[in-house]
Amino acid sequence: MSSNPPDENPEKSVEGSPESVAPAQIDPVAEVVGKTTTHTLKIRVTKQGEVGRNDFLSINHRGEEYLLLCKELWRERGKTLGQCSVVGPMPRTPFNPEMMIYKATPRTISTALGIDVPVDEGTYVGQISGNTVPVRLPVKRLGRLFVVGKTGSGKSYTTAVIMEEFLKRGIPIVVLDRHGEYSSLKIPAESGNDRFKVEPRSYEMSVIEFADLHANPGADLPIEALLGTHPKDLVVSGQGTIINFRGLDLGVQEALSQEILSDLYHAAVNREIPPFYCFVDEAHTLAPNRGKAATTGMMRLFAQEGRKFAANLVVITQKPQLLDTTVRSQVGTWIIHQLTDIRDVDITVSSTEGLSKDWAEDIQRLDTGQAIIAGDAVEVPVFLDVRSRETTHGATGFNPLDFAEKQTLEELEKRRIRLRTDFSGRIKAAVERFQQLTANADGGQMPQQVHALRSELKAAEQKLHDLREENTKLATKIHQLEAKLKKAEKKYQKAMNIAERALAELKGR
Ligand SMILES: Nc1ncnc2c1ncn2[C@@H]1O[C@H](COP(=O)(O)OP(=O)(O)O)[C@@H](O)[C@H]1O
Ligand SMILES: [Mg+2]
Repeated sequence: MSSNPPDENPEKSVEGSPESVAPAQIDPVAEVVGKTTTHTLKIRVTKQGEVGRNDFLSINHRGEEYLLLCKELWRERGKTLGQCSVVGPMPRTPFNPEMMIYKATPRTISTALGIDVPVDEGTYVGQISGNTVPVRLPVKRLGRLFVVGKTGSGKSYTTAVIMEEFLKRGIPIVVLDRHGEYSSLKIPAESGNDRFKVEPRSYEMSVIEFADLHANPGADLPIEALLGTHPKDLVVSGQGTIINFRGLDLGVQEALSQEILSDLYHAAVNREIPPFYCFVDEAHTLAPNRGKAATTGMMRLFAQEGRKFAANLVVITQKPQLLDTTVRSQVGTWIIHQLTDIRDVDITVSSTEGLSKDWAEDIQRLDTGQAIIAGDAVEVPVFLDVRSRETTHGATGFNPLDFAEKQTLEELEKRRIRLRTDFSGRIKAAVERFQQLTANADGGQMPQQVHALRSELKAAEQKLHDLREENTKLATKIHQLEAKLKKAEKKYQKAMNIAERALAELKGR
């Protein structure tokens, strides 16, 4: 059971496509009016209700078919008019006036958008929004992928879809899973999906999960075992290695991330491991834009240099503005879900190749499970309805044991025993290294940080004390001065009274 991208040959098998529904192709939906250029034209809608904002249309010009995107529609003197721009290849000469405009065929759309990737080379992520055209992204161009969107917008869901696609193709993945969400790849979805032609499937036999077993009883190997592994054990064709950080202290998570990223990077440089993808969730915590984390340098190196050695990176964050600019600038392809913070929207629009300011509005209006793909993987930005998952979508702290059927549970248990036996020789040494690492994270670095903060606090307390003393001194001085002033005023008043009296006496004489 697996998901089949809906149509190997779009115009053959897509239901409702212009090829299969003849009138849609034969009947024009609009015509060209007014001024035209080689890349823009104004249209008048001739078939009401058939043309919407962001719809794909097509026009024939000198025997060639061109794809148009309708970016704006308005009503004027009883007519519906629209502004279109050419997507993909442009003609050498301006379009002729009064030409007919049609709904674009799936073939025209997928060719012009660069998503007509052969099935075995493409990552099937969904369909063009409101359309049946499948979106397959060339794996080769996903080497630096950035998945963004506010909380609840569908980032983890889309990320898991991409993981399923990679696992299906045997591409090794390593996942730094902050919330223990991705072990759900082991459990098939409850049902399939007709629109996306997705069938439930489990990747239980491909996934190895390291975790704190107390907090995550469904994991395969203790997190300690990680340090007894060579990158060759983590990066294996057809294997997904999930490193579930749930339940571990932040300092330990950071230290482990640093260790893993560094090991993977160096093994890639030395050509000890095959090409792979590393997924980093909550990437802004490992490479923050303000301040510095212990992992910032490694994240930068991985992002900048890793690609030469096929160490690919998928970063995920809800706050693009918080991610280190060096890491951000390495991104080739963006998958953008809904963002509402205007600073995040602005940063996304300005850093993404092919996105202009008029996409800002679209980014803020995306629905859950909808995204805009832009950058290397597509010729032009594409609106995407993300396909359904083959596996269950797991929230934070997903426990596969709660969902697995009896037979799956037995298989999982057998596999776990085998894995633990395989790793048992390495676990003892690993436990020692892990203890060292946690001691460094807790007992080494932390006290240093605490110490630094304590001295800072002491200095601040001293300053406060000094300021308070100065304040008291100044208050006393003010008090003394006020008393002096009062005395002086009294004296002055007395002198004035005497002078007045003397003056009156003189006048009286
Ligand atoms: N493509 C999708 N299809 C169906 N449901 C989705 C899709 N994307 C997200 N959802 C729903 O939205 C919820 C939030 O998605 P999630 O990926 O966990 O958000 P995020 O990681 O951005 O916080 C999920 O629990 C799921 O129910
Ligand atoms: Mg998430």
